[in-house]
Amino acid sequence: MSTALDTTADRPAATGDALVEVRGLKVHFPIKRGVIFDKTVGYVYAVDGVDLQINSGETYGLVGESGCGKSTLGRALLQLEQPTEGTVVFDGTDLSTLKGEALRRKRKDMQMVFQDPLSSLDPRQTVEALLLEGMQAHGLTKDKAAAGARLRELLTAVGLPVAALKKYPHEFSGGQRQRIGIARALSVDPKLIVADEPVSALDVSVQAQVINLLESLQEQFGLTYLVVAHDLAVVRHISDRIGVMYLGALVEEADADDLYAEPLHPYTRALMSAVPVPDPVVEDKRERIILAGDLPSPANPPSGCRFHTRCPWRQPTRCDDERPELRVIDIPGATATHRVACHFAEQIRSGELQPHEVEATATDPNAVESDEHGPSAPASAVEI
Ligand SMILES: Nc1ncnc2c1ncn2[C@@H]1O[C@H](COP(=O)(O)OP(=O)(O)OP(=O)(O)O)[C@@H](O)[C@H]1O
Ligand code: SF4
Ligand SMILES: [Mg+2]
Repeated sequence: MSTALDTTADRPAATGDALVEVRGLKVHFPIKRGVIFDKTVGYVYAVDGVDLQINSGETYGLVGESGCGKSTLGRALLQLEQPTEGTVVFDGTDLSTLKGEALRRKRKDMQMVFQDPLSSLDPRQTVEALLLEGMQAHGLTKDKAAAGARLRELLTAVGLPVAALKKYPHEFSGGQRQRIGIARALSVDPKLIVADEPVSALDVSVQAQVINLLESLQEQFGLTYLVVAHDLAVVRHISDRIGVMYLGALVEEADADDLYAEPLHPYTRALMSAVPVPDPVVEDKRERIILAGDLPSPANPPSGCRFHTRCPWRQPTRCDDERPELRVIDIPGATATHRVACHFAEQIRSGELQPHEVEATATDPNAVESDEHGPSAPASAVEI
């Protein structure tokens, strides 16, 4: 199932303070069919060749449409999902070398905050029991007085009264429940928190409060974050760097300010063009790119550039045949940390290539790609 994508090329040099280094990561889920469900008829290429680095103390925002593989990537990073290929080096340790107890101990340093706080918190446990659970598992409650002080410190840190300890999750509002979820992640004093859509289930009015809380906790506890969201507006405020994902791979990665100032990949430009701007003058001039067609199935991804079925700048036949690498772009003003997976990023940026109409391509959500042809096989090998 190897692809033509050379994931070793054009990687950013390790800066030495990388907390997480992901290399050539793939997570392919087998699709089973048949009466006894034991025949693998294809794969969902949920994550299909991702390289990224998260530096200590930074917030990396990961955005993309529903189903593009964000949660799977986040889970694979914590080894909650078994990678099919590739490595995750966390704090200098290749996690694939850790098994059983050693991996469990390492998990203390890598915690997760989930989208839906109600379903991720056991309704039968008090807040105190919920917070103590992880601490007990990692031997942090041996000194009772210190554990009690830690609980109070956690609640204060997330802005909840100490009286909350005796209550149950259903007694809180959505925003308060997410504060409990954050306190639970913090309870074991982690280095990295993967926050998967931490505010998507919350009212808009409390989203900003929870994002601000995450920011202040980062400073207070020296945390590193991977924040997953489908909404660019959510990650904009909090992220130092942003990765944009499409069908299992990163299509663009840049410092947050650079990405917003100048999105270079056609997909990022389309995502960005969907975000309204409060200033009416700017809003009137805003570029609007309406994407044709649905997101293709990750079980049957388009050949070549995964985005070619929806790209207004698609060029025959390279876009259909050759999968672009995530590479530093050769244009004036672009920084060495701005990487784009598009063969024609320079020509699109200069205006040499102009957008054209895109005919929506019908995709069969039930189609699976045959095993003989990898996702990077020529267009003729894949029915779209
Ligand atoms: N355990 C699994 N078995 C089979 N397929 C899976 C599994 N988990 C995820 N998938 C599939 O992998 C693809 C990526 O899913 P994932 O949940 O990572 O996407 P996402 O970007 O987080 O989407 P959303 O924004 O909706 O949360 C989807 O097609 C999904 O159906
Ligand atoms: S490689 Fe081709 S299809 Fe892909 S984004 Fe660039 S122009 Fe569009
Ligand atoms: Mg998800």
